[in-house]
Amino acid sequence: MDAIDADALYDGIAEAGSAAAASFDIGRLDREFYEDPYPVFHALRRHAPLRTLPDGSRFLTRHADLDAIYRNPQLFSSDKTVDFRRTMGDTPLYEHHTTSLVFNDPPRHTRVRKRLAPAFTPRALRTLRARVEEVVAEALDEVAEMGRFDLLHDFAMKLPIELIGDMLGVPRADRHRLSPWAVAILGGLEAGLSDEQRAAGSEAVEEFKAYLRWLIRERERNPLSGDSGEVLSKLIGPDADGDTLSELELLHNCIFLLNAGHETTANTITNGVDALLRFPAQLAMLRRRPELIGSAIEEILRFESPVQLGNRKLTADAEIGGERLAEGTYVWLAIGAANRDPDIFGDPDSLDITRKPNRHLAFGAGIHVCAGMSLGRMEASVALDGFIRRFAEIERAAEARHHMRARFRGFTSYPVRAA
Ligand code: HEM
Repeated sequence: MDAIDADALYDGIAEAGSAAAASFDIGRLDREFYEDPYPVFHALRRHAPLRTLPDGSRFLTRHADLDAIYRNPQLFSSDKTVDFRRTMGDTPLYEHHTTSLVFNDPPRHTRVRKRLAPAFTPRALRTLRARVEEVVAEALDEVAEMGRFDLLHDFAMKLPIELIGDMLGVPRADRHRLSPWAVAILGGLEAGLSDEQRAAGSEAVEEFKAYLRWLIRERERNPLSGDSGEVLSKLIGPDADGDTLSELELLHNCIFLLNAGHETTANTITNGVDALLRFPAQLAMLRRRPELIGSAIEEILRFESPVQLGNRKLTADAEIGGERLAEGTYVWLAIGAANRDPDIFGDPDSLDITRKPNRHLAFGAGIHVCAGMSLGRMEASVALDGFIRRFAEIERAAEARHHMRARFRGFTSYPVRAA
């Protein structure tokens, strides 16, 4: 190709990118976007890094802008009581999301976060690690028998359900009920929320609340003894300062714990295997150098971030990325875009399990930074490490499609053959 042709080609690509950025609307996404949002994210970051959406909200894609916003909770509020009213109405779904700590500001956020802290101390994690290893070993035995299986449902999902089941002390026989509730409740956060999604989310909240009320009564009657990694008992009743969570705070934050640690962790594992299959030299390196598992997990979290979007609202006029935004502006934080920002990450569309530094925002940052990040990292490391040690040959057995929810990155199913 000569120079003139190349220029024309690059102009064409730039024009297409600028058109993609100009027509982007988070409420109207197509299948192509759900399969691969990154070309659109690159176009937005390049042509409209603070794109104004049709409803007046702003969609932000630069790492520096997101990082600054996450670290300034006074100016960028997480409180969603006004905004969720518009999409969710006066529903159980609204009650749930506006009571969980992630969608609240201090002081309401602080008191719940403080109560959760004992669940995630290094000591609690050591207890949970033994359980994670046990669950992974059992799940590996099961899928090894099958030969061809669904990586997401037969393997990756098993782990967080068992772990959170243990943390809440949910009897084994009831654990299969948790996953559909979580999916329905998180589906209620989508931008173009349908009547069906709203109704399914609300029904799941009501069922989950009723179930937890029963579980709490059980726990009050029969407290669990010993250090089982169970946290529900620690959340019931007053803390050392005499502060007690209200019944709704207790119920909704238990529901949130399940939801927050469930699909995110399972998707980290499945997205990780998928990324390694797409970059076989990286998989080969990880097999040769298993000590890279920690750094590989960080790269997988950057490369296919399980949480792709966050939101904040300006509490006052502020300058962000060289633009003045007005008080009350609702902002979208595109984590998936920031984690592929070429200003921060060299060759951002390649998986590099040795990447260092890796300042990804997959867990957010600031006061709301993921409370379960050490647990999520540990679960994903044990699972992925175990999976590639057990199977010398891994291949995708059929097409795998992403689900059609923009906030979370994951597959509907992931058929594999492994031996
Ligand atoms: C590895 C997968 C995970 C990813 C990618 C992830 C991602 C995130 C992100 C981005 C946030 C911040 C939301 C915001 O500020 O707007 C968050 C918050 C949170 N996550 Fe995770 N998470 C993961 C696993 C877990 C696990 C395993 C748990 C617990 C069982 C958990 C519990 C929480 C909690 C309680 C919050 C709210 C923190 C607060 O508002 O102070 N997460 N997570």
